Amino acid sequence: MCGIVGYIGDLQAKSIVLKGLKQLEYRGYDSAGIALMQEDTLQHTIFKDIGRVSHLASLVDSVSDARLGIGHTRWATHGPVTQANAHPHQSRNGRFLVVHNGVIENYKQLIKDYLNDEVLKSQTDSEVIVNLIALFAKTNPVPIAILKTLNLLEGSYALLILDQDNPTVLYGAKHKSPLLLGKCPKGHILASDMLAMCEEATHFYAIPDQTLLTLSEQHVDLSNLEGESLTLTYEHLEMDALQCDLGNHPHYMLKEIYEQPTVIRRIVEKYYEESLLSDEFIQKIKAAERLYILAAGTSLNAGYIGKVLIERLANIPVEVHIASEFAYHPPLLVKKPVFIMISQSGETADLRACLINIKKLGFPIFTITNVKTSTLAREADDFLEIFAGPEIAVASTKAYTAQIAVLAILSEALGHHYDMRSKLAQVAQSMDYFLSQASHVQNLVKMLLTKRNAFYIGRGLDYFVCLEAALKLKEISYIQTEGFAAGELKHGTIALIEKDTPVIAIISSLSIAANTESNLQEVKARGAKALVIATDDLNLSDVDIVLNHVDALLTPMVTVLPAQMIAYYAAHMLGYDIDKPRNLAKSVTVE
Ligand code: F6R
Repeated sequence: MCGIVGYIGDLQAKSIVLKGLKQLEYRGYDSAGIALMQEDTLQHTIFKDIGRVSHLASLVDSVSDARLGIGHTRWATHGPVTQANAHPHQSRNGRFLVVHNGVIENYKQLIKDYLNDEVLKSQTDSEVIVNLIALFAKTNPVPIAILKTLNLLEGSYALLILDQDNPTVLYGAKHKSPLLLGKCPKGHILASDMLAMCEEATHFYAIPDQTLLTLSEQHVDLSNLEGESLTLTYEHLEMDALQCDLGNHPHYMLKEIYEQPTVIRRIVEKYYEESLLSDEFIQKIKAAERLYILAAGTSLNAGYIGKVLIERLANIPVEVHIASEFAYHPPLLVKKPVFIMISQSGETADLRACLINIKKLGFPIFTITNVKTSTLAREADDFLEIFAGPEIAVASTKAYTAQIAVLAILSEALGHHYDMRSKLAQVAQSMDYFLSQASHVQNLVKMLLTKRNAFYIGRGLDYFVCLEAALKLKEISYIQTEGFAAGELKHGTIALIEKDTPVIAIISSLSIAANTESNLQEVKARGAKALVIATDDLNLSDVDIVLNHVDALLTPMVTVLPAQMIAYYAAHMLGYDIDKPRNLAKSVTVE
């Protein structure tokens, strides 16, 4: 959700910034822009438009040899998707340029108090920032003008600022929105995430909130919002640009689906060989009277599986909550809670709102995340990494199964020995087997799905997988899909079943197989077209997708794979942009 990249150094800024924006495309956006500063002529050029980064690249002069540039991908929040609302924004006097990720909550008040609203060319909250800087710079040195501005802003920001009068400096500022500093052999990069810098930078620094940065090719000055200097400590950047490569796959989503067995094996190796769960950490969680899992979307769906795993294996009660609800409508808490936030990106604003509230109450929080440099990893008391590697497709796949694997290992560590290591190895094998012959799912999709609607039904753990399966299908194929508890269907929703309505049943346990099968008969009797996904140990007849069985508690890691493939092939059949579905962002940094 909005991505920013800036470069200052000895290389061509245009190519570094455009490459960075391309890498940030996965975050979701609807327009893009770039500003390049020519040192010799003190001239800047701005290019911006609605549409893709490839379109933006076609607009940028091929000759620009600027060594300083900033770029932005915008996911509209304030104001519709128009060229005027795309970033960079320029101050009325033309001196300053800004790209902004975040939301300025008090922008209307700031316009009223400081700016004449006739001057604004866009409907964005961001344009206010650049005009405030220009206003204060009339009577103050630029760093002071920026600090004065930052101190007025309420909300979140990652900002890059260019001053036309000083083409050897790039300013950056961060509060609540992600921003990393990358150190390159020839210059510096500021970007929303590592993917945008992994080809150039050798080291990175995760910038804390309320920081102003002043960058030149060789130097970085950091200060807090009072102007006091801060120290900079770089970490080695481990991400390999190859990890972000599509390889032979046509889409990132397919690549990431196929990576799942490898990810599970990597998690097993990391957690068991490197003993990543310390005794102290486990004892802290065991001391809880109750655990509260908070998450959104796919991570929330992994959380439901986590609840079952922890309650069964560790005997600790667990509640699972939607982050955006918990933040403003928390339930009555027990006296000794521990909070688990699950977030692939570690940047989800709804979770951060929860984190701030929970911290005020002084309760322990840990994050399960794919991004160890993320805000939620840094701000929680502890974090567990899921080692899934960069997830680029907006539709989350490998992060879901990786989150469940880590929750499974945690459950065993909190409870009793369950031989989870070999059970997860069996999961990876079962995934391998399904993926080796998964292309036949394409034919099933063609026979079953139409554009209109679909249902997934299941019971117990299968029901939770149905929630994830439905989310996957609807978010990339735009087919309205519901994940339903099979037994609940007859209490109202069955009214929606008519001739040829697609109903997909997931069945992975003998104890519920007969009941789910009879629910399937009920919908078939009303004209539904059915498809059954089941594990081989059940020996059911009329199964369309048979999966190698795994431990009863780990079946979601396997039964979700056909659902991911169904979503992929449905979006493919309907001709949609699989990796970048409409209206969605990978990293949801607004509440
Ligand atoms: C769906 C999807 C989203 C995310 C949700 C939370 O495929 O990816 O539903 O799961 O936006 O994101 P994270 O896990 O980054 O907090």
